[in-house]
Amino acid sequence: MTSQSSAQVNTLAESLAQSKRVCVLTGAGVSKESGVPTFRDKDGLWNKFRPEELANVEAFIRNPKLVWEWYCWRRELMAGVEPNPGHYALAELETLFDDFALVTQNVDNMHQNAGSKNVIELHGNILRNKCHDCGYIFSEEESKQIVDFAEGELPRCPKCKDGLLRPDIVWFGEMLPEDAIDFAWKKAMEADIFISIGTSAVVYPAAMLPQQAKSAGAFLVEINPKRTELSPLADIVIEEPSGVALPEVTRQFKIILGK
Ligand code: OAD
Repeated sequence: MTSQSSAQVNTLAESLAQSKRVCVLTGAGVSKESGVPTFRDKDGLWNKFRPEELANVEAFIRNPKLVWEWYCWRRELMAGVEPNPGHYALAELETLFDDFALVTQNVDNMHQNAGSKNVIELHGNILRNKCHDCGYIFSEEESKQIVDFAEGELPRCPKCKDGLLRPDIVWFGEMLPEDAIDFAWKKAMEADIFISIGTSAVVYPAAMLPQQAKSAGAFLVEINPKRTELSPLADIVIEEPSGVALPEVTRQFKIILGK
């Protein structure tokens, strides 16, 4: 870590010590060091695949097999990866606060796997299925019981018996789950400190959260090895990978707390 980054990590740890309410927003960058590709980096998914063919409902209606093949590939990829030190540091940080919300755009379940409890999923979860017709959402456990596309046929809804199942992911043009975005909004507005980590901050409405938090008075921090559209608004930008910066933030904060 550069000496500038170290100094900023200390500032962040001190700001955390003065904060009661913490809101964190994460994006694909947080899982990059686990081996999950991001979307808009040079080697990102949207530089290799076309979201119009894979991540919207029209594409699913047109060619559900293609869409399922892509999600099965991503499910397999995610089944073989582990949380990294950044995920674990966030899970530990949560235990040091009474009011800590972790809002994520990620669908990979990695924060939960690392032990984070109060996770607000804005874009769904790749391990769950949802019925395209009746809208029923099957839990991760239920989804495991359903015969998967990987075994051949397109999966059908066991509830309504007819609808095609799809992954429980928010696709382009779809609304975010209302409860999740409402809760995330409330947490952002109440936050003393808001930390945006590993997101390009270009996908709305998630990208509104740090902006709103800042205008409601939060201290705004960004952790990302590359500057983003959010960087000019942030009070501190720590230009480091999250798997490097976050363990250091938690370590420094615990020193301040005497733990
Ligand atoms: P992006 O791919 O747009 O941005 C990833 C960000 O992570 C970039 O700003 C990178 O600089 C940063 N990054 C790369 N490596 C990092 C590391 N080791 N540590 C920290 N940051 C790192 O991904 P998102 O912002 O998450 O939507 O994209 C938002 C949404 O767009 C996604 O949720 C997805 C996509 O379409 C859905 O799937 C619905």
